[in-house]
This record gives sequence, structure tokens and C-alpha cells, in this order.
Amino acid sequence: MKIAVIQGPNLNMLGIREQHIYGPMSLDQIHEQLKGAAAQNGVEVEFFFFFLEGEIVDRIQECLGTVDGIMINPAAYSHTSIAIKDALSAVAMPVVEVHISNIYKREEFRQKSITAGASTGVISGFGPFGYHMGLIALMQIITEIKAVSNAQQTAE
Ligand code: DQA
Repeated sequence: MKIAVIQGPNLNMLGIREQHIYGPMSLDQIHEQLKGAAAQNGVEVEFFFFFLEGEIVDRIQECLGTVDGIMINPAAYSHTSIAIKDALSAVAMPVVEVHISNIYKREEFRQKSITAGASTGVISGFGPFGYHMGLIALMQIITEIKAVSNAQQTAE
């Protein structure tokens, strides 16, 4: 099982930016922990960070046929990007959207995620642990999909 973790703009500043909201961990530290948890479960993880919306769209399209699922924190683009939402819909695979902060108790403009409309589910407000929750969710969803498709192949 292979998943792509896609991180949006300013998440490279984790550990520096607004620690009272996002906590002290850097993006590299979060990825290192997640990689360990994934390896323990036999899951391969690829990590990507982008500043630009178009690069995120590009990367999502490249996920088609190369990974089983996507974990994405589109960061500020969550609230604005129809292009990222469309790309996630286009690849039609399991997607978990993660937000480190609880976007529902922040400014009004953050309380709506456009991209979430194309995701299987959203995890918001659990800090960096949200990525671990996302991993567990994706493992479960992908395992279920594989089981159904195996059963279909056996029946044919
Ligand atoms: C964020 C929430 C967004 O509103 C914000 O723009 C981010 C990070 C989060 O992980 O809590 O950059 O996606």
C-alpha cells in the first residue's frame, strides 16, 4: 500500500509560525514520525510540499495509478481552491484532508473548506497527531476497497 502526503503553502514554517496554533513540531519532524508509523504498518509514504496551487494540482494528477490514496493539507488553499478540489475529484481515490488546527473555531474565512468537498473525510484540530489519524483512516479505507475488488475478481 502506498500513499502520498501533500502539504500546502506555509506548512514548511511549522515549528516557527504561530506556535500557539500549530505547535512546536517542524514539518520534517512530523514526516519523520509519520514515516515510522507507516513503516510499522507496511505502508509506503511519499511526502511533498508545495507553495503553489498549480504544483499541487499537478502532483494530485500524478497520483493516478501510482498511489492508493492521498493525505492532503491544502493549507490556505483549502478555503479558496476549486482547482485542487477538481483535481481530487478527477483522480477519484481515497483522500483524507488534514488540518492541524480546528478550522471550525477560527476566523470565519477558515471555517469553510472547498477542497474538503472532494475528500473522503476531514481531520481537523488534533495537531500533528491528525496525520497519524489520517494514516489509520486511509489504511482502513484502502484495505476495504482492495477487499471488495479482490472479491469481485474471484467472482468473475
Ligand atoms: C491549516 C489551516 C489553514 O486555515 C491555514 O491556512 C494553514 C494551516 C491547518 O493545518 O490547520 O496554513 O490548514
